[in-house]
Amino acid sequence: MSFDKDMSHTNWENVRKKQTETLSLAQKWIQITGMTSGSIVMDIGPGAGVLTAEYAKAVGKEGKVYAVEESSGALEYMRKQTVGDLPQVELVNMDAQAGLPQVDNLHSILITGVLHHTDSPLAVLRHVREVANPRTQVLISEFDPEEKGEFGMPLEHRISRQQLIQWSSQAGLQLMDSQSTDYEQYWLLLRAI
Ligand SMILES: C[S@@+](CC[C@H](N)C(=O)[O-])C[C@H]1O[C@@H](n2cnc3c(N)ncnc32)[C@H](O)[C@@H]1O
Repeated sequence: MSFDKDMSHTNWENVRKKQTETLSLAQKWIQITGMTSGSIVMDIGPGAGVLTAEYAKAVGKEGKVYAVEESSGALEYMRKQTVGDLPQVELVNMDAQAGLPQVDNLHSILITGVLHHTDSPLAVLRHVREVANPRTQVLISEFDPEEKGEFGMPLEHRISRQQLIQWSSQAGLQLMDSQSTDYEQYWLLLRAI
């Protein structure tokens, strides 16, 4: 199975299909973070924007979703196909390894299925720590290398839960909860120390 780590050969329509197949995860992330009408959230690495649109529905027109994406192709796709007509979504073209936008009253930060595509997950987590306030819910999900490898990316490219907990701690993020979930994934809920 090939793995396009930097997503330079990505067909964003295919990403949209995959995100749609696993759409139940968006509701799970909404429930875990507790985002609600009026919440201000940051979606790091939104891909085709399918989950971003669900977050936009959850926060409503009184809320805000900052979608931070390094790929201009993904941003163009989102603008035309998924979130372009949602005024509460702001598309931000940034590499999360280099920095993140400063946002007041940030309710939650979601980094789902993204860190295995980065060269330095620790750099991303350090920037997350910089922009999180003590109440911000930081949710990370990744594919679990201890699962069977029947769904998603190859086992050898996956980040272990222990490694991610260690990087989070190094970045100044404290673990609040962690569980395994559908589609061979696990999640961590963290907050800034
Ligand atoms: C597999 S998609 C995940 C989409 C979505 N978060 C989900 O849970 O379905 C990974 C996305 O992260 C983006 N990405 C990877 N590295 C990034 C970085 N350093 N900064 C911002 N976005 C990044 C990719 O361009 C891609 O859109």
